Amino acid sequence: MISIVGIVGAGQMGRGIAEACAVANKSVILVDRDAASLGKSQHIIQRNLKRVVESARMTQEAADRALGKITYAQDIATIAPAQLLIEAVSEDETTKKAVLKATQAHLSKDALVASNTSSISITRLAIAIRAPERFIGLHFMNPVPKMKLVEMIRGLQTSDETFAVAQEFIVSLDKTIAMSEDFPAFIVNRILIPMINEAILALYEGVGNVENIDTAMKLGANHPLGPLELADYIGLDTVLAILHVLYEGLADPKYRPCPLLNRYVAAGWLGKKTGRGFYDYSGETPVPTR
Ligand SMILES: NC(=O)c1ccc[n+]([C@@H]2O[C@H](COP(=O)([O-])OP(=O)(O)OC[C@H]3O[C@@H](n4cnc5c(N)ncnc54)[C@H](O)[C@@H]3O)[C@@H](O)[C@H]2O)c1
Repeated sequence: MISIVGIVGAGQMGRGIAEACAVANKSVILVDRDAASLGKSQHIIQRNLKRVVESARMTQEAADRALGKITYAQDIATIAPAQLLIEAVSEDETTKKAVLKATQAHLSKDALVASNTSSISITRLAIAIRAPERFIGLHFMNPVPKMKLVEMIRGLQTSDETFAVAQEFIVSLDKTIAMSEDFPAFIVNRILIPMINEAILALYEGVGNVENIDTAMKLGANHPLGPLELADYIGLDTVLAILHVLYEGLADPKYRPCPLLNRYVAAGWLGKKTGRGFYDYSGETPVPTR
């Protein structure tokens, strides 16, 4: 049973996985090269658990215990005790492979390694580690503490033992598993991201403005969030990166990213995490920008 988890990448996903693991009584070492990301993660995890206590879904003692389970570090060497290392850095194959490679000098040879990639081939990422049979895809959903699903993806090399230990780990977090084959963007994003791209195309072509497109899909298709709101929440850089993986991996022009998405990412308008995307987040409530 996995009880010590190392996580590299303390963005919105890394910190969410850290919180879910700590609440499930795992020790967590959360690593990021960026001190600001670590500071933000610590603040957000504290705030989230405070809210859970205030809503009487957790005792103060349990929240304090969970907070005490997480260590924050910039030095990759601190992952040494981890039995499972989860890579959660930006959605870029070269970056992910470099990070996975860098972890190898510090991890025990028995440790399992997972990637939280949204779209990139697990079989290809596995090449970056010394024992590809100990590598697996664990695709958590955002926000991790609230979302029940984890997609599990076996690479061609993933062993049955790695799969069994990883499966037990996910169940111990009280999550539900959907298995996906190792195809570009797996199941959730194969279906979700083209829909988001279509919503951005509808905006680009003037079919509707931001507010109307999101309202139409919330009230007309019973989606809890509109597609543009959801794109901002995921991060427009991540949405674009997933579209590139679909476009190149399936060699099908239907996955061509909308030019407006390219422009927003080029401008650094990445959504909620940078304060501006299809909405402006500088005030109390998000304001549509188009
Ligand atoms: N955003 C989502 O809704 C979502 C959902 C599921 C999976 N994912 C996947 O999770 C991963 C992370 O996404 P995110 O939304 O948390 O991104 P993010 O931009 O919020 O965070 C990425 C973090 O990685 C860190 N980082 C980048 N390069 C690094 C390196 N070389 N060493 C150490 N840290 C490094 C950055 O400093 C940043 O803190 C991506 O693969 C993404 O596709 C995202």
